[in-house]
Amino acid sequence: MTTGKELVLGMTLAGKRILLIIGGGIAAYKALDLIRRLRERGASVRVVMTSAAQQFVTTLSVGALSADHVFTELFDRNDEHDVGHIRLSREADLLVVAPATADLMAKLANGHASDLASTVLLATDKKVLMAPAMNPKMWAHPATRRNRATLQKDGIAFVGPAKGEMAESNEAGEGRMAEPLEIVAAIEAMLDERPRPLAGRRIIVTSGPTHEPIDPVRYIANRSSGKQGHAIAAALARLGADVRLVSGPVTIADPAGVATTHVETAAQMKEAVEGLLPADAAVFVAAVADWRTANAAGEKIKKVAGEGPPSLRMVENPDILAGIGHHAQRPGLVVGFAAETQDLIANAEAKLKKKGADFIVANDVSHESGIGLSGVMGGDRNKVRIVSRIGVDEWPEMGKDEVAARLAALIAERLRAIVV
Ligand code: CTP
Repeated sequence: MTTGKELVLGMTLAGKRILLIIGGGIAAYKALDLIRRLRERGASVRVVMTSAAQQFVTTLSVGALSADHVFTELFDRNDEHDVGHIRLSREADLLVVAPATADLMAKLANGHASDLASTVLLATDKKVLMAPAMNPKMWAHPATRRNRATLQKDGIAFVGPAKGEMAESNEAGEGRMAEPLEIVAAIEAMLDERPRPLAGRRIIVTSGPTHEPIDPVRYIANRSSGKQGHAIAAALARLGADVRLVSGPVTIADPAGVATTHVETAAQMKEAVEGLLPADAAVFVAAVADWRTANAAGEKIKKVAGEGPPSLRMVENPDILAGIGHHAQRPGLVVGFAAETQDLIANAEAKLKKKGADFIVANDVSHESGIGLSGVMGGDRNKVRIVSRIGVDEWPEMGKDEVAARLAALIAERLRAIVV
């Protein structure tokens, strides 16, 4: 007999085996809820706890929720005899580290195997998902950033961290562990066995605004939230693509399963994108600033009585899309975006040619479209037309996630025609 609850939840993880590694941090309490959520969806959960984790939650409560033995020691005669760390690391469909502490990230980035958790992570041949949680200063530290970049290059997936209040202090900033349901969604995406038409394809996506400095504290920016670009990156990843997202400064989290590079300026975005070539496709969603100041001041510009405001001399930024559209290593499929208020089709067709794109996703931001520029930038909905050499396809207004899913399907269809 099925209960109503099961019907609502769906056994999306039926038969899946998750090895959950709980690191030491306040967020460890959320791992208890995560175990419950995973089991509700049909997964079996086996848990490894670091010794620091045991300062925050007990093996007793974890064992009660997971209904299994909780593994804590590398050289535990009983555990090693019974399961052993190699089997532990391989007898799972996915390894999840939640919370992933700075210490656990550093250990894996550098290949340490000094306790059971790090040994299991090093010995596994399965995919690994990390949900970091730490103090914002620790997350922002160059060492942690370096370790995250290394782990991402090694194929480790990340979910979160999010911005928000820290449990242990009044500090706010990036470092809060993703909520259990977000982690579950990332796990479901990683274990999704539906057809993956973009498997083996590398796709570059740009997203968000760029910030162009005036001086160390001031910059020129725009209202792009990154929602559409991030949604496209996530949708492409769901179809199996190896997505490389280059994001300007945004407040939303990196999409699960997407290797994300963070940049500030157009120049940095261009360098990052070029560094990711060769690729099968590239989708330019970022609202790149058209201009930057000719010379950003090294020191904060001060008000000087009687002198009036400073004048800014602007120079044009490089057009990243046009650069890639005409590049010697041009990806087989190049997609650009355009925000048009008038002559949408003619303008988009001109951009196709000028920028060397295969199609332009034209946002209709005219007042008649009902959304407008301020609605598209930062909002959750979009109304687009797909302009290519073979014609124009008008899509109805829909959520940005739906635009992303349809665009990802279209990219998969176009790439199918291009032999690897
Ligand atoms: N683009 C880029 N690098 C730039 C400027 C734009 O890669 N320096 C990309 C954007 O990511 C987008 C497309 O080019 O894919 C937008 O082109 P743009 O000419 O800026 O179009 P609009 O934003 O519509 O602006 P405009 O009013 O200048 O036509």
